[in-house]
This record gives sequence, C-alpha cells and structure tokens, in this order.
Amino acid sequence: MKLSIFGLGHVGLVYAAGFASIGFHVKGFDIDAEKIRMLNRGRLPMVEPNLMELIDSGTKQQRLVFTDDYHDAVLSSDASFVAVDTPLNEEEELDLGQVISAFRMIGESLRKAGGYHIVVIKSTVPPGTTSGIVRETLEKESGKKAFEDFGLAVNPEFMREAHAVQDFFETDRIVIGANDERSRKVVSEIYASFRCPKLITSFNNAEMIKYASNSFLAMKISFINMIANICERIPGSDVEVVAEGMGLDKRITPSLLKPSLGWGGSCWPKDNKVLLDLARSLGVEAPLVESTLEINEGQPLQAIRMAEEALGPLRGRRVAVLGLAFKANTDDVRGAVSRKVIKHLLERGARVVVYDPVAMDNYRALAESNGKTIEYAESGLECIRDADCVIVVTEWEEFKRITQEDYRRAMKRPVLIDGMRIYDAKRYSEITYRAIGLGPQ
Ligand code: UGA
Repeated sequence: MKLSIFGLGHVGLVYAAGFASIGFHVKGFDIDAEKIRMLNRGRLPMVEPNLMELIDSGTKQQRLVFTDDYHDAVLSSDASFVAVDTPLNEEEELDLGQVISAFRMIGESLRKAGGYHIVVIKSTVPPGTTSGIVRETLEKESGKKAFEDFGLAVNPEFMREAHAVQDFFETDRIVIGANDERSRKVVSEIYASFRCPKLITSFNNAEMIKYASNSFLAMKISFINMIANICERIPGSDVEVVAEGMGLDKRITPSLLKPSLGWGGSCWPKDNKVLLDLARSLGVEAPLVESTLEINEGQPLQAIRMAEEALGPLRGRRVAVLGLAFKANTDDVRGAVSRKVIKHLLERGARVVVYDPVAMDNYRALAESNGKTIEYAESGLECIRDADCVIVVTEWEEFKRITQEDYRRAMKRPVLIDGMRIYDAKRYSEITYRAIGLGPQ
C-alpha cells in the first residue's frame, strides 16, 4: 500500500519517515516549498532526536519522497493522512483553516483518482468535525460519496515532541475512528505490524479520546504543581518526595508528576482551551479543565514571587533565564513557559538575559519583548554572568552541569530559582537556592 502524508510538521514528518521505515512507499506533501527543498537537501526543519536518520534511511531506500504537488501525492497513493496544524487564532478560538485547505486539495485530487482511496485525519479536531466539515469538503470537492467512493477515518496521534520517533514505534495504543467496515479494515491493515492495543470506534469517540487524553495529562501536572505550591509553605516538605510516594501507587503511576513552572507546547494549551469551549458550547461546565488551565497560567509567577522574595522589586535587576524551549531536546517555543516568565520579568522592569542551546532563533523570531530588548547570551555560563538572579525554565542537560561554584563565581548575587528541579538542593546550600515545591529546609 502506498501512503501520502499531508503536512510535514512534527507529526507528519515522523509518520512519513516511520511508515517508510516499516516498508510503505510514502509521499510527504507540504505547501511550504522551502521546507520541501530543505528536506530534499537532507536538512530537518526542526530539532527532533533520531528523525533525520530515519528520514535519510527512507529516502536512500527510495521509499520516502517529499513533494509540494498535492495531486501527485494523492494520485500516487492509496491512503492520505492529514497531519496539519489546528492552532488557535488571535481570538483564541480553534482555527481549522489548514485542515479545510488540506481536505480541499485532497478532494480536488480525488475527483481525478480512479480506484478506492482512503483519507485519514490525524490532526486534532473536535468531535463532529470529521462527520461534518471534513466529509462535506471532501464530497463537495471530489464530487464523490464518502464510505462508497472513498474511505474516511480518524486516527489521533499520541506522540510527544523530543520522543516522537520512539513514540511512533512504541506507541501505547492505536485509536481508529471509522464509521464503515471498509475504512476500518484498510486502516487496521496499515497498522497490522504494530503490537499494541487497538481501539476501533466511531469518529466522535476517536476525536474525543485525543482531547480527553491531553486534558487529563495536563491536569496531572497542574495537580502536582498545585501540591508543589502548598509544599513550599510547609517546613521540611519537598514535593519530589511527595510525588515519589504518590507514584508508588499503581493507580497513580510516577509519570507526569514532575513539578515545574507549568506545562507548555503546541498541543496542551490549545487542546484544553478547545475542550473547554466545546463543553461550554454544549451547556456543560468543565471546572477541572478550567482549573487545569488556571493553575498553569499562574505557575510561572511562582518564579517571579521567589525572585522578589529574595531581591525585593526586580526593576533594574539583571535576571538570567536558562532555557527557552517548552521542554528539553526541542527547539519549539510554542506555548513555552519561558515566554510567560520573560513577559512578567519585563513588566516588572527587570533586565533580562536568556540562553537556550537550540531554541534561540525560534524565540528571536517571535520578537515578543514588547519593544523592550532582551539580551541573548552565547552559553549558559555567559548568561549567568553578573546576574542578580537565575531562573531555570527548561531541563536541558547542560544546565545540570552548572555547579554551585559556577553560580557563586559568575553571579553578582547568587540567587538561583530552580523552576524544573534540576539540582539537588543539598549541593547548592551555600547560595540562595529556591525551588518549586521545596519548603523551608
Ligand atoms: C503532548 C502529549 O504528551 C502527547 O501525548 C500528545 O500526542 C501531544 O501533546 C500532542 O497532542 O501532539 P508534547 O506537547 O510533546 O506532547 O509534550 P509533553 O512531553 O507531554 O510535555 C508537555 C509539557 O509538560 C512540557 O512543557 C513539559 O515540560 C511539561 N511537563 C511534563 C511537566 O511540567 N511535568 C512533567 O512531569 C512532564
């Protein structure tokens, strides 16, 4: 079976390369011709561990081809997967523009296609989208009937950035939403070699599983962050030990109990917002989703509060921010906590200096400093030099190697705020060390 993938962002590229590696012939399509040129020159448009190697092996074996010609992508394949972005617009509402445009292209090409073709939606869309606008767009553009002339399925993805290749091969489950027998069968065949539980259900359930999963995972982190904020006020308390004790319960599990200055990324912030909007539009209260978002919005302020407690007003203070990416091993700054921390610091008149091993260009491109300049350092050590305070925002390995001695020597006043709990408090006891969820010791 030959596949095409529409949208070569994180999800699309990993699926294109992953499917090629397990034997499919794959055409990866994107409207961004520059991205296609880059990929054809063997360069990755983002940072994602092990992805370039996987792409290289697919292209060398001539099983993976990149194109900006959507007719070619559809007409030379039996199944088209849509993995385009579904971001929020400026009004913070779901923007399905890219999804609709992809289905228009596929529908247009289906008009010319001879045999059976199945269209699979991997993009995160709210319940009702596939049976509604997706189906309508495909039928209108192709002049053909869904479930008779072409197949349609929903197949949400559960990969994490920075672990996406591993998650492709070792996924916990595969969810297939399909309303007709043939679509169910064809998508199941595509995933036949994956040894994991497979859930076959309706369009709406498959769409909802994705939102409910992302919201639940985010809720778990907001929960531990709430506990962290309480622990901080209790002498001798440490949320890391509390989380360890909780995680030993098999029903809780240790995952996603790492306290932080909040969660970010391109998915959870918008997926929680969309779920909340969906609930409200249906006349249902969703207070857990609301609180999950609220706690997350307030969490970066914990770092600001700690800095102010140690230094007084931040106006004129030099504050170093270590880490811009929304998590380690990615250059993605979408929804990153660093952006909120920097915004709060600038609002208080602090002088901000930042460093990230790979996400500096993406951050610069956002130009979010409201006309106020921030300084970009060349390394972690340069970033902390002469600082009144350092805030660790991203859990990069290289930050873990900065010792107490380094901080003491480099900083004007060694106030270290560990927003990701990357240090052992005992080893930093001779400087002012404050950490999320660590009570007075
Ligand atoms: C998330 C989900 O984990 C994936 O299952 C899903 O497929 C994906 O969204 C998506 O919808 O596409 P991702 O956004 O890559 O994946 O990020 P995660 O690794 O889950 O981390 C999210 C945020 O939570 C990061 O900012 C991370 O630093 C933070 N985090 C994570 C914590 O603060 N504490 C933790 O214990 C774990």
